[in-house]
Amino acid sequence: MVRPLNVGLIGGGGGAFIVNPHQKAIHFDGTRRVTCGALHPDPAIAMKEAEAWAYPIQGYRSYDEMLDQEMKKPAGERVDYVLIVTPNHVHFDPAKKALEKGIPVFCEKPLTVNLQESEALVSLVKGTNIPFCTAHTYVGHWTSRLSRHIVTSGLLGNIRWVDSYYIQGWLASRTEDMGVMQAEWRVDPKRAGASCCGGDIGTHALMQLRYVTGLNVTKLQAFLETFVAGRQLDDHFTVYCELANGGKALVRASQIAIGHKNDLGIEVNGEKGTLIWRQENPECVTIHLPGQPDRVYWRGEVKANDGFLGDLPADLMAEPTIPSGHPEAFHDAFARLHRCFEADVRAYQAGTYKGTDGSKYATVDDGRMGILFVEKAVESSKNGHTWISL
Ligand SMILES: NC(=O)c1ccc[n+]([C@@H]2O[C@H](COP(=O)([O-])OP(=O)(O)OC[C@H]3O[C@@H](n4cnc5c(N)ncnc54)[C@H](O)[C@@H]3O)[C@@H](O)[C@H]2O)c1
Repeated sequence: MVRPLNVGLIGGGGGAFIVNPHQKAIHFDGTRRVTCGALHPDPAIAMKEAEAWAYPIQGYRSYDEMLDQEMKKPAGERVDYVLIVTPNHVHFDPAKKALEKGIPVFCEKPLTVNLQESEALVSLVKGTNIPFCTAHTYVGHWTSRLSRHIVTSGLLGNIRWVDSYYIQGWLASRTEDMGVMQAEWRVDPKRAGASCCGGDIGTHALMQLRYVTGLNVTKLQAFLETFVAGRQLDDHFTVYCELANGGKALVRASQIAIGHKNDLGIEVNGEKGTLIWRQENPECVTIHLPGQPDRVYWRGEVKANDGFLGDLPADLMAEPTIPSGHPEAFHDAFARLHRCFEADVRAYQAGTYKGTDGSKYATVDDGRMGILFVEKAVESSKNGHTWISL
């Protein structure tokens, strides 16, 4: 029987949001479990929250204490990786300290609040070869894996145009004044970074574009807008992009589009056809080919050599899934990321880890690309929407 990996939480107490899907995803397979946490910036609250946790975990007064004390335990009893689910301004310090102690890091996006910090993390990971995941949830859907295979293996031909978007409506009024802690820090430049909407969800849209197409953005022209009065940061983020193959793309995000919930999706137009995928209906990928009926590929019902798809990669087909018709969604996507990360952590511990190619989860460099994109978008928008090279 394999020993379950021990995961330490940094953040997650006091009514926090994203820790919940993560900790479910950690426990998904029985091969990982949460064992400890530094759950709140106030040491007393952190300990109280740990005591009240739904299952037994060891509480710590701070993440410094957690990292120090855990490393004093023998291998097998200490944390095998940490999960950072704090607001953006508390990503860099715990990630750096964990890496310096040799602990693999699964860190929420956006990676940091500025490029300098992101670059420091990239250098640390490169220098130490410690597994690091940036938590871009949506690349964990099996259908994102299939989309990536279809586009990057050239089945749509050269890519001309991509529309990658994440549209929400929850900040359409001053949610930050209504006691919603998730809104309070997202609109504060000190805790969110240089962009609210772009950093929070524009980075997801960018990651989906880069993951599915395998193409980087080379130039951009941005429009960051603030529709709700009194905010210092954008709540609407529109970026026109040039791609590495000469194609064009729109990376757009909004938090003021009433009625939209977590409307992330991507449309990829190639010379031979179009691919469409939406995370609110994540179990299928639609392909449009000229003069043919539309093809709708459902997870669990995809077969190789069907007249459009050629051979399918063994690792894609082997990723464990439940049968089609039993819907996978957000938690399954998170679980797939933790599952793939677990494999790398185990390889790291066995001395066989050779680094990640970014095909299973977003890397630290993907995280850096998100911050670079946001910073250049802010610069373009401030300077009269000029084109800027990345
Ligand atoms: N991948 C995704 O789909 C996704 C979705 C939502 C949020 N996020 C990201 O996750 C992070 C957290 O977002 P959230 O909405 O869960 O925030 P939240 O406000 O709900 O939770 C933040 C948590 O961090 C804790 N915290 C703050 N400072 C701390 C410190 N110094 N030490 C220990 N704990 C501390 C808070 O007490 C709280 O428990 C953000 O970076 C956000 O961008 C990602």
